[in-house]
Amino acid sequence: MIEQLEELKTRALEELARIQDLDRLEEWRITYLGKRSELNQILRGIGTLAPADRRTVGQIANDVKSVLEGESAARRAQLEQIAREAEIARERVDVTLPPRPIARGQCHPLSLITEEIVAAFRALGYDVVEGPEVEWDKYNFEMLNIPAEHPARDVWDTFYVKTTDGIPQGQVVLRTHTSPMQIRVMQARRPPIRVIVPGRAYRYEATDATHESEFYQIEGLAVDEHITMADLKGTLTAFAHAVFGPERRTRFRVDFFPFVEPGAEMAIDCHACRGSGCRICKNTGWIEIMGAGMVHPKVLEGVGYDPAKYTGFAFGMGPERVAMLKYGIDDIRLFKTNDLRFLQQFR
Ligand code: DAH
Repeated sequence: MIEQLEELKTRALEELARIQDLDRLEEWRITYLGKRSELNQILRGIGTLAPADRRTVGQIANDVKSVLEGESAARRAQLEQIAREAEIARERVDVTLPPRPIARGQCHPLSLITEEIVAAFRALGYDVVEGPEVEWDKYNFEMLNIPAEHPARDVWDTFYVKTTDGIPQGQVVLRTHTSPMQIRVMQARRPPIRVIVPGRAYRYEATDATHESEFYQIEGLAVDEHITMADLKGTLTAFAHAVFGPERRTRFRVDFFPFVEPGAEMAIDCHACRGSGCRICKNTGWIEIMGAGMVHPKVLEGVGYDPAKYTGFAFGMGPERVAMLKYGIDDIRLFKTNDLRFLQQFR
């Protein structure tokens, strides 16, 4: 029996040394230390031995049991440690993976050109003001010397706004230009006035490569004593130099707008071909960029200014058109289609 115990111990320890995972170890435990194990049978049989042998065999059997228990516990701890390390290795996060670049926004080309135009006038002492896009007919037309039923109204195809609160229909419009701000500013301030007014305007018009029903304008107004057409020309030439280059030449020709007299259309020599004729200037060598003129005496009178004392000039341009000319963009709709390939060219 003692030999059997010794043999059992050697065999169990040898097998234990070869065990590599916890499931095997459990099987090993059942085989060697379980209820029905050889060792347990020996322990149970001790009672049948002669009393003199019981002590020795019992002692050896218990020693074998505690050696096996101790060794297997140690092995278990070892295997658990290995399993834990394997798990940690599996779950390891690779913090060296380069991050995805953060998508960085940028200004829309119309914001950029507006900023540039506004900055050119700010440098000349102009204030920036903004006004309502839903406007009174009175400001959009009447006080700009465009009475109801006047044929000049045909120039501005108008969206009328349905009104409530007892306001008669036809008195509220989506402003067709930023010029009504001339009236609002002159009513709210007294000369000297120098303002630049960027903002949106609307026209009831079909969309094509050069027209949108919703678009931007930048209005300008200067009113003071002794302002002349020379001031208008000097100011607008300074603007053209700032935005299109200091070598630009300007051309002023007569044009008609009811709220100015005389009225003018301003052109610059083509910055792309320097005046020799190209696609951008449609082979004319000149690019028309805005309407302008001396504020009409009737408009001044309408806001309570004495036209014998005060004079002024006004101008209005479309930043879409300025951007298209400056950057050679051939379709105004590109500004609104949100195509990143287009938008990302302007930084
Ligand atoms: N408001 C005009 C338009 O929308 C542009 C314009 C022309 C503005 C002459 C002015 C001006 O201030 O003096 O067509």
